[in-house]
Amino acid sequence: MLRVGINGYGTIGKRVADAVRAQPDMEVVGVAKTRPNFEAEQAVEKDFPLYAAVEDRVELFDEAGIELAGMVEELVEASDVVVDACPSGIGEQNSEMYDEYDTPALYQGGESADFVDTSFNARSNFSDANGADHVRVVSCNTTGLSRLVAPLREEYGVEKVRTTLVRRGGDPAQTGRGPINDIVPNPVTLPSHHGPDVKTIFPDLDIDTLGLKVPATLMHMHSVNVTLDAEPDADEVRELLEGESRLFVIPEHFDIDGAGKLKEYAQDVGRPRADIWENCVWGESITTEGDDLYLFQAIHQESDVVPENVDAIRAVTNSADAEESIRTTNESLGMGI
Ligand SMILES: NC(=O)c1ccc[n+]([C@@H]2O[C@H](COP(=O)([O-])OP(=O)(O)OC[C@H]3O[C@@H](n4cnc5c(N)ncnc54)[C@H](OP(=O)(O)O)[C@@H]3O)[C@@H](O)[C@H]2O)c1
Repeated sequence: MLRVGINGYGTIGKRVADAVRAQPDMEVVGVAKTRPNFEAEQAVEKDFPLYAAVEDRVELFDEAGIELAGMVEELVEASDVVVDACPSGIGEQNSEMYDEYDTPALYQGGESADFVDTSFNARSNFSDANGADHVRVVSCNTTGLSRLVAPLREEYGVEKVRTTLVRRGGDPAQTGRGPINDIVPNPVTLPSHHGPDVKTIFPDLDIDTLGLKVPATLMHMHSVNVTLDAEPDADEVRELLEGESRLFVIPEHFDIDGAGKLKEYAQDVGRPRADIWENCVWGESITTEGDDLYLFQAIHQESDVVPENVDAIRAVTNSADAEESIRTTNESLGMGI
């Protein structure tokens, strides 16, 4: 069993912890937090050994009556791999600690791509992370774009990607985020950081991205145009995308008209936290005009990177190849809706 520690038990960390626990070849050694809030309570409730991330906050846990298993350094030492899911920038600061204990670490998309050995998307560049010490699982939006671009490149070749990302203002629990009544070009300059980020996965890809922020918390929405090196018809592209295990092509008769109904569907099928790990591509939006492909896809920002983190654990430990890892992860989580 691969022993996995999770440093940073928030939106991403708690989901990764549950996903790791569901794997047949992994166990969660523990999770680390700085504060004894509701997520700390839940970690204990779920029998995840809880470690303190900051020495001088230990007494806060004592005062709250939450028992600690130790300090984060002990967690790192006991782990074969650490998944760092701390707020952006903290992961890079933590990298020295991971080096000190010789523990390979995965970071999240909010971290800089510059200090890691490679950025990672399971479908696109799994083996680049084999044996690496520092791997960055790319952001929710970059994961969503990479999963889409990978099969299109393989099947048709891609001349150029142009995507407008309509981004949720914040996650449901992020009370301080906005806008609350606006539509904000964000960033107002082009390209948004997403295009360059996708190039950390596909260095030679020609891609332009524009970003906006809207008063929504449920999902991101991408309006995608890909100029291909071929002229397939829409049905052919649809069939190709339907064959991808992490793309959910929404059938017309589901009558799902937006992110709200998608989340409702996720709840109806019993997804934990109403998570949608797959890209959600509207089937009837898949359109071709000559060599231009158009479609809409929704991305559940809180969860699409979760299976990617699980695969990255196998990649850095050389414990499975891409196909085997993706299959195991998908089956263990119950992906495919
Ligand atoms: N949310 C998304 O939509 C999303 C999607 C893809 C990628 N990401 C990326 O994932 C990373 C984490 O984002 P998130 O949304 O999960 O953030 P989050 O919900 O704020 O969770 C981060 C957690 O880390 C804990 N923490 C803070 N400082 C820490 C430290 N020094 N050591 C250990 N734990 C610490 C915080 O809890 P306490 O302070 O209470 O302990 C917090 O619960 C970021 O790089 C982000 O860009 C986020």
